[in-house]
Amino acid sequence: MQHPQPKDDRTSHQPCLVIPPLIDNHGRKITYLRLAITDRCNLRCCYCMPERGVPFIPHDELLSYEELERLVRLFARLGVKKLRITGGEPFVRAGCLEFIHRLKNLGCVEQIFVTTNGVSTAQHLEDLKKFGVSGINLSLDSLDRQRFRDITRRDYIDRVLATLHGALALNIPLKINSVVTDRSSDAEIIDLGYLARCYPISLRYIEEMAFGGAGKTISRPGNRLKERLERLFDGIQECPPDTASTARLFTSTGLVGKIGIIEGRSRKFCSSCNKVRITPQGKLKACLYDDGVLDLRALLRSAASDTTIVNAVRHSLISRHLNGHDTEAASRRKHEPSMATIGG
Ligand code: 5AD
Ligand code: SF4
Repeated sequence: MQHPQPKDDRTSHQPCLVIPPLIDNHGRKITYLRLAITDRCNLRCCYCMPERGVPFIPHDELLSYEELERLVRLFARLGVKKLRITGGEPFVRAGCLEFIHRLKNLGCVEQIFVTTNGVSTAQHLEDLKKFGVSGINLSLDSLDRQRFRDITRRDYIDRVLATLHGALALNIPLKINSVVTDRSSDAEIIDLGYLARCYPISLRYIEEMAFGGAGKTISRPGNRLKERLERLFDGIQECPPDTASTARLFTSTGLVGKIGIIEGRSRKFCSSCNKVRITPQGKLKACLYDDGVLDLRALLRSAASDTTIVNAVRHSLISRHLNGHDTEAASRRKHEPSMATIGG
């Protein structure tokens, strides 16, 4: 579909022109953009969506690659240095690899990362390496074939492991995200940790959050991951905190890599939050728990100029909540949506 072109897009040929940075009302500089390019996925992880999946967004409601590219240029001008391509599963959207290549060639952002479930990623690794992608976050919750199938409702563990080993062979920096639910056993956590014992990767255990897409909320308290890791891994030592990261990382004598925790449910990292998200439909989210603070798609499709969009983005961050708890309390929605519609 053809969308109208902006009327006074005078700066669009200077892709890396810098303007005053994007800073929220709490003084937090926004340097990290997560771009969810699709809500579709080839897995059905039980904490993310119900077995039948979630109603998928019609294609013309998704931002086109051209629209996404324009947004990346604009956010780069506003000071975004790090970009993450996510989904759903980004590689189920046709043209994803070429899109990443185009973004790399734009040269606006310093780093591009990809979050993937690894099901169809192995075949793209050499290209991703060639393009200079800075790293891959691979979702993998269990090394046990049956458990993997129970969690994801698909029998694709071999494909995911091919991605894992392919990325290691190509020296692509790799992080593994493992969601810990009340069904995750100690043995499973130890097995996953074994990957950090053998390989230079960060294995990050993630607290399950109430983004299951089925109207389900989690009533259990957070699952106290730090205490669990202290019990399961000998002598772990916490690394100095990195305020740019949501993970708390730990080393231990037996580890080549690191293990870590992401306390997304407890939301312990909000005070230094440097990131915003764009959903597949073009909603700007200032927080995982908000309902979207700006409809970028409407702006893009109304022929708004770059200046108009940039000003609207700035304006949308002047009343940002201090943390995810405050955002959630202010939100009108009754149930959290599927993580696949947000981008994790
Ligand atoms: N809670 C925690 N993490 C989740 N993810 C998806 N749904 C949830 C949830 N309900 C994770 C995926 C992936 C990342 C993008 O988000 O496992 O690693
Ligand atoms: Fe797909 Fe990721 Fe959701 Fe699993 S968690 S169903 S891999 S989008």
